[in-house]
Amino acid sequence: MIKHDVVVIGGGLAGMRAAVEAAERGADVAIVSKMHPVRSHSGAAQGGINAALGNREEDSPASHTFDTVKGSDYLGDQDAIAAMCEDAPKQIIWLEHRGCIFSRLPDGRIAQRPFGGAGAPRTCYSADVTGLVILHTLWEQLERFGVKVYEEYFCTALAIEDGIGSGVVAYNMRNGELELITAKATIFATGGAGRMYAKTTNGYASTADGMSIAYKAGIPLMDMEFMQFHPTTLKENGVLMTEGARGEGAYLLNSEGERFMFKYAPNKGELASRDVVSRAEWTEILEGRGVDGCVLLDMRHLGREKILERLPQIRELALDATGKDAIDDPIPILPGAHYTMGGIETDKFGATRVPGVYAAGECACVSVHGSNRLGGNSLLDTIVFGARAAAHAVDYIKSIGEVRPSTRTLQSEKDRIAALLARSKGTRAPILRRKMNETMSANTFIFRNEKDLASGVAELEAVRKEFDESAIVMDKSKTFNTDLVSTFETDFLIDAALCLAKGALERKESRGAQARTDYPERDDANWLKHTLAFRQENALPRLDYSRAVKITDFKPEVRSY
Ligand code: FUM
Repeated sequence: MIKHDVVVIGGGLAGMRAAVEAAERGADVAIVSKMHPVRSHSGAAQGGINAALGNREEDSPASHTFDTVKGSDYLGDQDAIAAMCEDAPKQIIWLEHRGCIFSRLPDGRIAQRPFGGAGAPRTCYSADVTGLVILHTLWEQLERFGVKVYEEYFCTALAIEDGIGSGVVAYNMRNGELELITAKATIFATGGAGRMYAKTTNGYASTADGMSIAYKAGIPLMDMEFMQFHPTTLKENGVLMTEGARGEGAYLLNSEGERFMFKYAPNKGELASRDVVSRAEWTEILEGRGVDGCVLLDMRHLGREKILERLPQIRELALDATGKDAIDDPIPILPGAHYTMGGIETDKFGATRVPGVYAAGECACVSVHGSNRLGGNSLLDTIVFGARAAAHAVDYIKSIGEVRPSTRTLQSEKDRIAALLARSKGTRAPILRRKMNETMSANTFIFRNEKDLASGVAELEAVRKEFDESAIVMDKSKTFNTDLVSTFETDFLIDAALCLAKGALERKESRGAQARTDYPERDDANWLKHTLAFRQENALPRLDYSRAVKITDFKPEVRSY
């Protein structure tokens, strides 16, 4: 049996930041990851990380807090948002001191670019490869502290003994064995659930793993109905074209060559918040002003030099996928599923309601993003809450004795997976995954309504049932059984999709990324509250609205850009 004080599930930015923090605090910490940490989806984050450094214009954590609260359409918890924004400059300096190569202003200070919904240029960046640069910085720190990484271990279940977290069960992908990893504290940092949708900016690994594992263990998922659709993703393959392009001055154009965003956001134009920009694009397309079903991202006026210096990756990505060079041609783009605002319910220290179980980064819902996240706040969330969760966990483990190894969880996982592998007739997971993807994209996209959502929930319920009764794995081998692993991932995604669709159906208002055509207004009187989704055996999630939104300094106001 493997045993550590703290085990972090996931090796992306939140996971590595948590592990480094725990190691710096002297804990025996390990990472369990289904892939090598530097291959994590965090590496696809492009445009930057927010912190009110004020290097280009006057700025403050209070102003960052206000922008984030407004961006969240007042659903974010204001105490948690303030904690994140106050911590942001310290975390940037922490990264800087550990060798993170940020782009620079001519005077040598860290460069900052404007991002959507922000009152000042506060997004620190490394050209358009910021996530990758921070990922490598943290990897070096893991090496420095000698943190043990269980790579190609796929976590399948959370162990809870005597009401407290006691580690996880993980499937060793190299030899097909299930192993019990006992820990006094478990931190989930497994990323988002974008793969619920047919087209997404998310990597293949973003399959709701931690979310579903926690949910199956009785921990609620919060605010899952709020999925962010990023305004600029490539038509061809859904790959991200960073908001940094608009931050640097790129335009959005319709078929008439019009910069249409000023009709929808007279003050901010292309730099309104993402929910506003994505709805505007989709409206242009629905009303017949699209270009072959898209709108255009035009960077030509930025000039070759600026594009090559600040946006080299997206120029390459667009060139590869479309054959168009952004230096000479506008790029066809569409809104695409990008970020799961909801996730495992935590407090502002990353603690869930089960002692010893934590979550940080995209898999968590603290909630700092509410119903719409501001660009640049996701990398910040991973760094701030990775560190905070680890700090809390290290204090917590000092207060408890040994935890009981959950051999019963190990046994029940062995039985469950043996039964799955023993099944020879039924439906393969890719078929079920495709049905889920199609349902999600058709019924829970940017504009939603009762009829579509109800049919989405019914279809997903049928997918859930079919998976439970008849999912089959054709490959019975033990070494790198990707058929089995992808079946686990499909199971997880179905849970997340059901919580999203059911939450969206029940929430009878429009707020942030949830735009209901049948309930077009925000309804604070009835809906200024979080959604908690609890798992029920053989039934739809049970929704609970008892968690109030924490309002401190900013009373909800009409939100316009
Ligand atoms: O557009 C982007 O570069 C994405 C940033 C983010 O999601 O925060």
